[in-house]
Amino acid sequence: MTASRIVELAEFGGPEVLKIVQRDLPPPATGEVQIRHKAIGFNFIDIYQRKGIYPLPLPTGLGFEAAGVVEAVGQGVLEHAVGERVAYMNAGVGAYSERRNVAADKLVRLPESVSDETAATLLFKGMTAQYLLRRTHRVEPGDVLLVHSAAGGVGQILTRWATALGATVFGTTGSPEKRETALAAGCKEVIDLNDPQWPEAFLAASGIKARVVYDAIGKDTLLRSLDCAAPFGLVVNYGASSGKAPAVDPELLNKKGCLFLTRPSVFPHNANPATFRANAADLLDAIARGHVKADIGGRFELNDIAEVHRAAEQRRLKGTILIIP
Ligand SMILES: NC(=O)c1ccc[n+]([C@@H]2O[C@H](COP(=O)([O-])OP(=O)(O)OC[C@H]3O[C@@H](n4cnc5c(N)ncnc54)[C@H](OP(=O)(O)O)[C@@H]3O)[C@@H](O)[C@H]2O)c1
Repeated sequence: MTASRIVELAEFGGPEVLKIVQRDLPPPATGEVQIRHKAIGFNFIDIYQRKGIYPLPLPTGLGFEAAGVVEAVGQGVLEHAVGERVAYMNAGVGAYSERRNVAADKLVRLPESVSDETAATLLFKGMTAQYLLRRTHRVEPGDVLLVHSAAGGVGQILTRWATALGATVFGTTGSPEKRETALAAGCKEVIDLNDPQWPEAFLAASGIKARVVYDAIGKDTLLRSLDCAAPFGLVVNYGASSGKAPAVDPELLNKKGCLFLTRPSVFPHNANPATFRANAADLLDAIARGHVKADIGGRFELNDIAEVHRAAEQRRLKGTILIIP
């Protein structure tokens, strides 16, 4: 047995329910490897799970994404060895920890050019951008896109990668201080969401409705996002930062221009190990080409996890937050 400091919650609630505890970690089972984490990624979904909006059986660990070093391999694991650098993003919750056992087929081997911190910054959010730009809609040169929360973790990656693919990206942010970040990621223009007329402001800036609207804000924005999509365009509701999106009457999609509306998730897109590896290779290629870059918005110790959650909910974060165990 090895000891590991982990974040555990025994009840759903505010950031104060996140407790640091010491737990024994058994050796890796058949098909698993044991990883010592070097960097852990924070994702907005961690908040939904802490609050019980996406309920988990309690008590539970939290966190989907981390990078580190293989310390032990279980029986039957041939493709990974002790000392190797790896990362993961869809191995179930428990990444907020010093050490962890993970199924070997959920791991990405890291090339030397990608640091642990970069991997923990980019893997979950980059794999999200990967399916949104390559599968939900295959972005083509000349596409006009509207990306909400363009200064955020996924938002910056979406913007930078879509721009590299030849799209023109308009972004929104929740405060003027985030405008420069969104512009630096590649937005042609940035719309302030505090303006109640933000859809009109988007249309004035773009002169044309969007082929695709990427909306992870949900409750506060989705209905107005429908006004920003071109006829036969696509509205992608992939998150609920402000709360769950309202139900949409299919007839509304007809009235707004025969629109398509989808609510996808990164996990089914990567459930098959071969597809997961292919998608990860696509992301690593985009990183190598400079189409996807890490924007580390801050580093926190595992002990300060409650403060990370507080700052995210108060919209104080830009880029991606790393947790160092
Ligand atoms: N479906 C999927 O596959 C998938 C995968 C990964 C992430 N996601 C979703 O993508 C979104 C972005 O994730 P992320 O980890 O990169 O987070 P993030 O964008 O860094 O943070 C969320 C952003 O949402 C915006 N926001 C708008 N209304 C808000 C409110 N009432 N409270 C808090 N934030 C609000 C804020 O940006 P502004 O202040 O600029 O508006 C905030 O920075 C999240 O909704 C997440 O759940 C979905």
